[in-house]
Parts: sequence; C-alpha cells; structure tokens
Amino acid sequence: MTRKLIAGNWKMNGSLADNEALLRAVLAGLPATPTADVAVCVPAPYLAQVQALCQGTALAWGAQDVSAHERGAYTGEVSAAMLRDFGCRYVIVGHSERRQYHGETDEAVAAKAQRALAAGITPIVCVGETEAQRNAGQTEAVVKRQLAAVIHTVGHCVSEIVVAYEPVWAIGTGRTATPEQAQAVHAVLRAQLRAATPSERRVRILYGGSMNAANAAALLAQPDIDGGLIGGASLKAEDFLRIVAAAA
Ligand code: G3P
Repeated sequence: MTRKLIAGNWKMNGSLADNEALLRAVLAGLPATPTADVAVCVPAPYLAQVQALCQGTALAWGAQDVSAHERGAYTGEVSAAMLRDFGCRYVIVGHSERRQYHGETDEAVAAKAQRALAAGITPIVCVGETEAQRNAGQTEAVVKRQLAAVIHTVGHCVSEIVVAYEPVWAIGTGRTATPEQAQAVHAVLRAQLRAATPSERRVRILYGGSMNAANAAALLAQPDIDGGLIGGASLKAEDFLRIVAAAA
C-alpha cells in the first residue's frame, strides 16, 4: 500500500509570528514517526524560517510555485535550485489559482514540473475541472489533458511526481467532492499513469478541495486517494493534525 501524503498549502497566508506558532503546534502534535508523510507548502519568503524550525523533524516543507526557467533575467521568479537551497522536498505546480490568475498553460506547468524534477524536488502537479466544465461533462477530458502535458514533458520521470486532483468548484468553497466523485476522477488519473509508466503505483494522487478534519477519513479511505492537499484547514494546527491522523 502506498504511504499517504498530507500536504498543507498555506497559499498567501502567514507572518513570521503566525508561522512560528502554527509550526510549533503542528510539530508538538506530530508523532515522531507519523504513519503518513506530512509537509507544508509555504510562501517563498518564509522558506528559511520553516527550514530552521522543521529541519530534523518529521515535517517536510516545500514551495507553492517554481520558475520554468533555470536562471537569469526573470524578475520576480524563484528557481528550483533556490528552492533546493532551502531544503524544499516538494513544490506545488499548476495550482488552479496559478492557472486562473496567472494564465499558466498546461505546457508551462509541465515545464515547471520538469525543472523541479531536475533539481531533485518532487512536483505536486495540480489538475482539476471548473464547475462549468463538470456540468458540461468535460471533467475527464480536462484532467487527462492537464496530466498528459506533464507526462509528455517529463517522460519516464513521471513516476517521481505527485498528482493532486483539485476540482476548482471545491476549492475554498466548503463544497467537497463526495468520496465517490473524487474516487471516480482518481481512477481515471490512475489509469492514465498506468499507461505511462510501469511504476505508476509510486505516484501518489492527492485530493484537494475543502478537505477538513470531518471529511478526511472518508475521502482517504477511497482506493485511489493517496493523501490530501489541504488549504484552509492547514492553517489550524488542530485541524491539520486531525487530517494527518485520518491518513493512518
Ligand atoms: O491546494 C489546496 C487547495 O486549493 C484546497 O484549498 O482551502 O479548499 O482546502 P481548501
């Protein structure tokens, strides 16, 4: 059975003081050897702080975006090598908020995933349909197109990625996909991965979208849901720890 991954996505939240309180509370409640992998993906300016607090603990950390370029004249961008300097194990790529507000294409997301892999960082590749796409019966086509771009670009390294299925209509809305709805899409993604690599079982497929302490266990019990990418609930230590406990 695949070891589950519970990753927090803090999005654009936090301050030095708030982060320290949150991380100390999470670290205090985390078992020394958790039964799942646990990580927080934080705003880039706080990576040094998170590294200092989490180094040597069971809590891994990562970033929320990475440049598709290696280095150079790209003002405001952060490279994969820079993330590696701060000990990042993960980086989220292609979150729907980046696709929607920053115009990230499938190809740009794939290039970012490739940059992360080349730097030894695991990309958490987000895919997911909007409500309009779901209503139009396009869910499967959309998520397959988004994942196909990454598979095409990273080739056999696809076994090293993490996928996160985040239906856009469930993000930050309190409307969670039902376990059956989520499982159905995860099964589609699993089949696509199986066709792409003999090592597909290594690829964890996380669910994201209003996952919380109350609904995590039912979602995580589905056969193809290998963890969660948690937004709002990752900002409260107690809720985040309860999700981690549900992933046992
Ligand atoms: O990446 C996590 C995410 O978009 C879900 O956010 O607040 O609905 O858990 P939230």
